[in-house]
Amino acid sequence: MSETSPKLRAELEGIPTYKPGKPAAAVDGPVAYKLSSNENPYPPLPGVLESVTSAAGAFNRYPDMACTGLMNELADRFGVPLTHLATGTGSVGVAQQLVQATSGPGDEVIYAWRSFEAYPIITRISGATDVQVPLTPGDVHDLDAMAGAITDRTRLIFVCNPNNPTGTVVRRAELERFLDRVPSDVLVVLDEAYGEFVRDAEVPDGVELYRERPNVCVLRTFSKAYGLAGLRVGFAIAHEPVAAALRKTAVPFGVSQLAQDAAVASLRAEDELFGRVGALVSERARVVETLRGQGWTIPDTQANFVWLRLGERTVDFAAACERAGVVVRPFAGDGVRVTVGETEANDIFLKAAEGFRKEL
Ligand SMILES: Cc1ncc(COP(=O)(O)O)c(C=O)c1O
Repeated sequence: MSETSPKLRAELEGIPTYKPGKPAAAVDGPVAYKLSSNENPYPPLPGVLESVTSAAGAFNRYPDMACTGLMNELADRFGVPLTHLATGTGSVGVAQQLVQATSGPGDEVIYAWRSFEAYPIITRISGATDVQVPLTPGDVHDLDAMAGAITDRTRLIFVCNPNNPTGTVVRRAELERFLDRVPSDVLVVLDEAYGEFVRDAEVPDGVELYRERPNVCVLRTFSKAYGLAGLRVGFAIAHEPVAAALRKTAVPFGVSQLAQDAAVASLRAEDELFGRVGALVSERARVVETLRGQGWTIPDTQANFVWLRLGERTVDFAAACERAGVVVRPFAGDGVRVTVGETEANDIFLKAAEGFRKEL
């Protein structure tokens, strides 16, 4: 018997494994709250839970692969044709399908950095080359530099708006100027995972921009504002042939019936869910104001998290938060992202941040 192991693709060598936010396991410490994954802290609405429990009785069957009910609901909700919609296993699943549909070896994918940590992974898995364009010193997408990075090998550009992990946004005028500079055969993906948390009127809804621009695709998720992170469903709005390509690159039956039914129930319960989003937005204002009062420099955030650029002190700060009872998301050597969660959790975090600041 040969001793060699199966040959794997060389590209995998340098690719990091996706690192999820640390869970909130309290070990001999105070109750731990999880502020590390930008989740919605509210439990499911009773009606949404009910839709999932009724679907659960039939999970011996495959789900509706075409997500018919959900697609119809989305088409109505966003005023788009059914042929412009595609669903996937979370919006990260759809993002991966987008890269697979556009980019392979020799092709380039541009995105800002630091941004959503799945972008490098899904790009490299496709065999494509990632081109990371540093954020400006104010932690905002540098759209001029991103436009300048386009070559004849560029196939896809991610614009994460608001950006994960900084919460910063790009506004309508600058985004439109950027889109005008992108060649029409390059796909621009507006990743709006946190779009429902935006309160800055100058930040465009990507759906407006996609209508007149066949090379723009909008990526949305049910994981954040709608509170369905554990069910894994996201979607894209894009013109043909992009939406059709997404249906080809989808994992068959990737969106469970539980997820489909919960997503439909959530769209119908938007008023109530968006009331919760409003409460989180108020909490966000309180968290930012308190941190600034403590002396921290915090970029303006339009998402459900805040960013503290702590550099070398990142890991120590995360450890201090954990000792206090909140798990946050450190990016070693760079900064810490903290989700706006339950009021009690935010209070613990703010107290830990104050204590850490005093020690500096
Ligand atoms: C910017 C951004 N896009 C996409 C996602 C993926 O979310 P999901 O796969 O749960 O829809 C996330 C999750 O954290 C995110 O931050």
